Amino acid sequence: MKIRKAVIPVAGLGTRFLPASKAIPKEMLTVVDRPTIQYIVEEVVASGIEQVILVTSAGKSAIENHFDYDFELDTVLQMKKKERMAEELNHISNLIDIVSVRQKKPLGLGHAIWSTRNVVGDEPFAVLLGDDLVLSDEPCCRQMITLFDEVQESIVAIQRVPMEQTSSYGIVEGQKVKEKTYRIERMVEKPAPGATASDMAIIGRYILRPEIFPLLEKTKPGHGGEIQLTDALLQLSRQRAMYAYEFKGTRFDAGDKLGYLKAIIAYGVRHPHLGEEFRRYIRQVSESG
Ligand code: G1P
Repeated sequence: MKIRKAVIPVAGLGTRFLPASKAIPKEMLTVVDRPTIQYIVEEVVASGIEQVILVTSAGKSAIENHFDYDFELDTVLQMKKKERMAEELNHISNLIDIVSVRQKKPLGLGHAIWSTRNVVGDEPFAVLLGDDLVLSDEPCCRQMITLFDEVQESIVAIQRVPMEQTSSYGIVEGQKVKEKTYRIERMVEKPAPGATASDMAIIGRYILRPEIFPLLEKTKPGHGGEIQLTDALLQLSRQRAMYAYEFKGTRFDAGDKLGYLKAIIAYGVRHPHLGEEFRRYIRQVSESG
């Protein structure tokens, strides 16, 4: 079974990023020269996926517009002989086939994923959370698809976090089965300090089998009163094998103010045109204390 579809939930209110996210979706905040959501969609495209399913809510139309063709803008850019920019904009709107599904109520990540059941249908699919940017040589999602091709079971991406941070993540416990891969035995959403001995934190990349949908339907509100994807995944892991994969790369929580700043620095210093001068500037700023 091939992974053809990727679900990207973007319905969240972005309260961690107020006031910046009051009138624009947090997914439209810029890292260097593009909105964070574009990095996520580019990762999907680079992973060989054919369709993106956005889970949206009111006030998120800027995201759909960003990936749409803008006839007026294209005409003006052509008239002004700004062909290169026109080409870049057309490239963005041609990246991939995008459909949107509305999450009718803010009931949590599990509910957002469940809202896509009719569009995803009976096939495995990827989930990428818009807050998590991953900088890596091979796209994180593609690394996971390679593992899926082998195991044909659901996979969550993980990274090790300091124990005092485990309460900010879904945490998995399991046994190593091979390099960077663990068979999941237990998972818990945002455990209180001391409630787990594991430091393996789920980051926003998943490959899920469609069996997750009926389980999501039955999942009761959990942590924070929301329908948690992690709770439904725990049920799935009791029915069939599930794996945690320690991806290669660096993850940034771009939905958090400090994480976002770190992402800007990391992507900025690597930028093909601006990187060199930006590195020089950072050195200058840090030396001047
Ligand atoms: C979500 C998931 C959590 C995961 C995290 C990764 O939480 O529920 O299991 O560890 O994303 O970013 P959120 O950060 O949306 O509260």
